[in-house]
Amino acid sequence: MNRLLLLNGPNLNMLGKREPGVYGNQTLEEIVHLVKKTAAEKGFEVEAFQSNHEGELVDLIQQADGKYEGIIFNPAAYTHTSIALRDAISAVQAPVIEVHISNVHAREEFRHHSMLAPVCRGQIVGIGISGYRLAALALMEETDSEGSS
Ligand code: DQA
Repeated sequence: MNRLLLLNGPNLNMLGKREPGVYGNQTLEEIVHLVKKTAAEKGFEVEAFQSNHEGELVDLIQQADGKYEGIIFNPAAYTHTSIALRDAISAVQAPVIEVHISNVHAREEFRHHSMLAPVCRGQIVGIGISGYRLAALALMEETDSEGSS
């Protein structure tokens, strides 16, 4: 069975309660449900993890090869700071799509720069939780096209 890894970083467990004007009212549980449903329609399974700890996210990325066809990753605040996560992404073959719910480019300047984007397959920003769904679709299409080539 083809699988995707859905990873969410710090404070995203607070979605629904956290700054609803910026992040909306939907909870992390609803995001996980959306991604699982999108994946199931194409015969994919999703494993979902949220962590507030950088090292735990590094551990999860390190074990992705051979286990997941790709990673949907909202690194939250670590986006802007983490060389460790960037190195972990570079160390694996599995493609990673970076997702942000809010439009980070319309916010504070420190959110404009991503340490991770240069080593990700792509980045989806500012379209709310639809970004997670589109990331799943892109990774599944990539897997399909590899399978048929
Ligand atoms: C975020 C944007 C980050 O700047 C912020 O630290 C988050 C959430 C987003 O999904 O919009 O925690 O990744």
